[in-house]
Amino acid sequence: MNHFEYENRTRIIFGKERHQIVGELIKPFADKVLFHYGGESIKKSGLYHEVVKSLAAAGVEAVELGGVKPNPRLSLVYEGIRLCREQGIRFILAVGGGSVIDSAKAIALGVPYDGDVWDYYLTKKQPEQVLDLAAILTLPATGSESSDSSVITNEEGQLKVGYSSYRIRPLFSIMNPELFYTLPENQVANGICDMMSHIMERYFTNTTHTDLTDGLCESTLKVIMKNAEILKRDSRNYDAWAEIAFAGTIAHNGLLGLGRDQDWACHKMEHELSAIYDVAHGAGLAVMTPSWMRYVYKTNTNMFVQFAVNVMGVEASFREPECIVREGIDRLERFFVSLGLPVTLTELGIDEINLERMAKKATWCKEGEETPIGGFQKLFWKDIVEIYRLAM
Ligand code: NZQ
Ligand code: ZN
Repeated sequence: MNHFEYENRTRIIFGKERHQIVGELIKPFADKVLFHYGGESIKKSGLYHEVVKSLAAAGVEAVELGGVKPNPRLSLVYEGIRLCREQGIRFILAVGGGSVIDSAKAIALGVPYDGDVWDYYLTKKQPEQVLDLAAILTLPATGSESSDSSVITNEEGQLKVGYSSYRIRPLFSIMNPELFYTLPENQVANGICDMMSHIMERYFTNTTHTDLTDGLCESTLKVIMKNAEILKRDSRNYDAWAEIAFAGTIAHNGLLGLGRDQDWACHKMEHELSAIYDVAHGAGLAVMTPSWMRYVYKTNTNMFVQFAVNVMGVEASFREPECIVREGIDRLERFFVSLGLPVTLTELGIDEINLERMAKKATWCKEGEETPIGGFQKLFWKDIVEIYRLAM
């Protein structure tokens, strides 16, 4: 096991109707907030009015900024920074999925900073100050409700880049599983795939003596798959949503990766798809993950046998490890298909034309220099093109 330090300040407030106390939770920190949200979904569901009511009852003034798009854009982040500065706002409330929370994190970084907030995403430097933020989660998927990351798309140059700092974890996040009942089927599937990917990016490792986190990863993956099956039949099943939502937070709050090298190649390859083709993150991961597995498993076949047997339920057999691995990957792919997710680039409407460009962007390849991606197996741009081809 590797050395590690772990801290996660996000207070999780979980359960039915908990969003109705958001005003009183914020009041000790601020009298005025930026109320940040996406499109129409929170207005249609009535959540918008409940938030407005709770803030007003607690005497918290709300300045609104809606319009966050999936794959959140830097231009709206700039608008949020300007608005907070003009209005003297020091607290941001994000109400939505990962895109809204990530946009809020970027605004929180940008307001107290003299330079361009995009600097953080490019240089990865740590901030001296960040505004406080909180979230009401409407889509369990990204784990952004308690993760230290924000992923923003800069329309100029079609760049989608992530940034991490313990300082951008929300102060608190409210998770009421009932708020997920209005999600369309494809967003449910995208979210399930994303949280599974967050676990698998940590699980596949060459670090040894990681029994505890291996076991946590395996059982969290199984809980997600079991409850996803229930949601397919019954999309308003509170208990299944509760399990999924809790698992989604655990998947990306940092716990499952402690003491082990992590991979993250699938996420980086997916971000290139989203940056150019604006595909949904979870759908892109469903395409990239099985192909990545087929390309890299020989680096540590035992790790993939463990996955196939302990997670995908393939029968163990000492003499046929490759068959076991292939069956495990096939079962994962079939699970994604059963949720209605795409598993090929063609299904996403992506052809060969940009494969080399995306692979080179993923490794920041310029003038023969590149930074390979992937902790499990290092991937150079030529490897990435091969994986994209496998995914066609
Ligand atoms: O905009 P509205 O109208 O709210 O609709 C949204 C949006 O169209 C809709 N939605 C959300 N909650 C709903 C709902 N519709 C009905 N009922 C509800 N309760 O869902 C659509 C997608 O929302 P979005 O926030 O984009 O999805 P998600 O939560 O999957 O976030 C994806 C973004 O997060 C990034 C991804 O790359 C992508 O940009 N990630 C962030 C991470 C982090 N910060 O830690 C880690 C992840 O790996 C990921 O990269
Ligand atoms: Zn993700």
